[in-house]
Amino acid sequence: MTRYAKLGQVELNVTDLVRSRRYYEDVVGLQFVGTGAAGELQFRCDDEHHNVSLHQAAQAGLKRVGLMLEDVAQFAALQSRLDAAHVPWHLVPKFECSARQTLCAIRIFEPNTAAVLEFYVRAEDSQRPFAPTVAKIQRLGHVVFNVPEPSRAVGFWRDVLNFRESDSIGEAVTFMRCFPSRYHHGVAFGRSTRQSLHHVNFMVSEIDDIGKALSRFRAAEVPVVFGPGRHVASDSVFLYFLDPDGLTLEYSFGMEEFEEACPREARQLTPGPKILDSWASVLDPRAFSLAGTNEALAG
Ligand SMILES: [Fe+2]
Repeated sequence: MTRYAKLGQVELNVTDLVRSRRYYEDVVGLQFVGTGAAGELQFRCDDEHHNVSLHQAAQAGLKRVGLMLEDVAQFAALQSRLDAAHVPWHLVPKFECSARQTLCAIRIFEPNTAAVLEFYVRAEDSQRPFAPTVAKIQRLGHVVFNVPEPSRAVGFWRDVLNFRESDSIGEAVTFMRCFPSRYHHGVAFGRSTRQSLHHVNFMVSEIDDIGKALSRFRAAEVPVVFGPGRHVASDSVFLYFLDPDGLTLEYSFGMEEFEEACPREARQLTPGPKILDSWASVLDPRAFSLAGTNEALAG
């Protein structure tokens, strides 16, 4: 059974790298780390070398998601599950690993989300302190994917990747945690006609981070598209906003946590007007609408 350390990285394609650097650094509050081997800009929001990479591209969207394994022993279990499911995996070349401060990594094309996933173990000396500025970001929280058939995606992530279901809201969305992470979800799958990115979440340390963001976003004319509100499933206080390309980002404060041993059963929550937000804020139609194109589908 594959064991994960965390959802560690997300890589996004953006159409104007200079504009997006300013935004992700000054407005979102990520710490700029440097430029990677392919010209991508790297940012940090926890104690890892980097958590977010931005790549210049013609179309905005998801490039890659990185899942950190607990240790190198996890590769064997993962690779045998992938082989059994006939999902090809590829070793990431050594030079690329060292440029990305990882010890070793494999990549797959995940067929349900059409996303490229990287499973990695970080290099021993890759830890660096995060220096918060405008928001006390704790970690990259989760990535939500739009998929045509959430149940197939859930089956793959449960049976092959060893993620665990936390909750579903009807047929619309299922939340999963990367075992044995205690957080309610590290990924989720929402029903949509198109495989694409739904949103990327950053967990913050204080409720003040949400309130301060509202003022900061207003001053910077950043569209707030949902919230502030509280999710019924995870109990998180949330705020959704758009990046310069229209990709949806989220800050959240607080989240239900699970024990590794004897966690509660996953719930089937009934869809309803207040199931996404018990505070009943109004969803802006721009939320989740410019979901971008997964790089594997672009071109
Ligand atoms: Fe979220």
